Amino acid sequence: MNISILGFGTVGRGVYEMICKAEGMKARKVLVLPVECTESFMVTSIDEIVNDKETDVVVECMGGIHPAFEFASACLKAGKSFVTSNKALISEFGIELEALAREKNVSFLFSAACGGAIPVLHNISVASQTDTIIRCGGILNGTTNFILTNMQDNGKDYKEALSEAQKLGYAEADPTADVSGMDTLRKVMLLSSVSFSSLPTENLCCEGIENFSKEVADYVKERDMSVRLMGFCGKTEAGIYAYVEPVVVPSSAVEASISSNINFAWYEGENSGFIGLMGQGAGRYPTASAVLRDLSAVIEGKKSMIGPCCKKIKADNSGILNSYLLYIDGVFSSIESISVTEMHEKAKELREKGSKVFFAQYKI
Ligand code: HSE
Repeated sequence: MNISILGFGTVGRGVYEMICKAEGMKARKVLVLPVECTESFMVTSIDEIVNDKETDVVVECMGGIHPAFEFASACLKAGKSFVTSNKALISEFGIELEALAREKNVSFLFSAACGGAIPVLHNISVASQTDTIIRCGGILNGTTNFILTNMQDNGKDYKEALSEAQKLGYAEADPTADVSGMDTLRKVMLLSSVSFSSLPTENLCCEGIENFSKEVADYVKERDMSVRLMGFCGKTEAGIYAYVEPVVVPSSAVEASISSNINFAWYEGENSGFIGLMGQGAGRYPTASAVLRDLSAVIEGKKSMIGPCCKKIKADNSGILNSYLLYIDGVFSSIESISVTEMHEKAKELREKGSKVFFAQYKI
């Protein structure tokens, strides 16, 4: 199978190296920027890949929505299978790209877009064919987990920990997507699309770690607890819920042992029960290994991760009740049994009035 790659950054390079060593796979061309074009296998125009009769599959590792969407559409229309690690692209245009792939009878896989090396999307796409998935989620962002655990366990300061995560290749090109929770939210959207054939695009609640501080780290540590950023989605009678927020966990909880760039992704099937998977959620080779897993699946004939029924929907977080730790203008308090929607709205209102707010769900 001949594979061309779009992008030669952290993940693209890893994918190229792994393909060169893999049996049954051959790297054809790599799309790079003109300033990066130093090798004979590199090209600077997408047309050279779209029109390349020898390329069977295109792997996209450029990131961003545009021009990734236009490039993906062109490759699929040209009858090439498409594998991507791009969460932003899939959360925005996954349904449209899936339809194009179906029309052309080629593969469209994106298991590298959630959980890094962890095969959570792959497993759910297989499990959902024979079981009903009820809910899923977890610690899904390596950068924020690296920052949180370095601040809590090693006393590092926020900026120092973020800069280290960037150097290690965990963070997005613009790390705002990581620390704001947006990257986790996009992964939750993908989990929902594969689990429930529903891509939630409205009424989502998203709180990141930008307001986490040494004061909160000390407070929870003194109480033998720890903070992690987690994403959640699930199916209830009221519809699909999907949200991201910091969570306080007791030191004895599995999540408390998840440190550095490690992710902990889980799903619960009606028949399988709870299944938890941990592994490296970010970085060159962990993510490249997930792309290669999808390439192997293309060879085996796997076509898709979401069915033709997948639709964009409005999420409903108003029926999910949690208890929260609050830190408002230097004062700690807690609130019991409030809906996710109300908690996120309350924090927004307080911030609009000028308060400094951190909140985290209590996981009991
Ligand atoms: N920036 C992402 C993370 C990369 O830190 O998890 C992997 O999706």
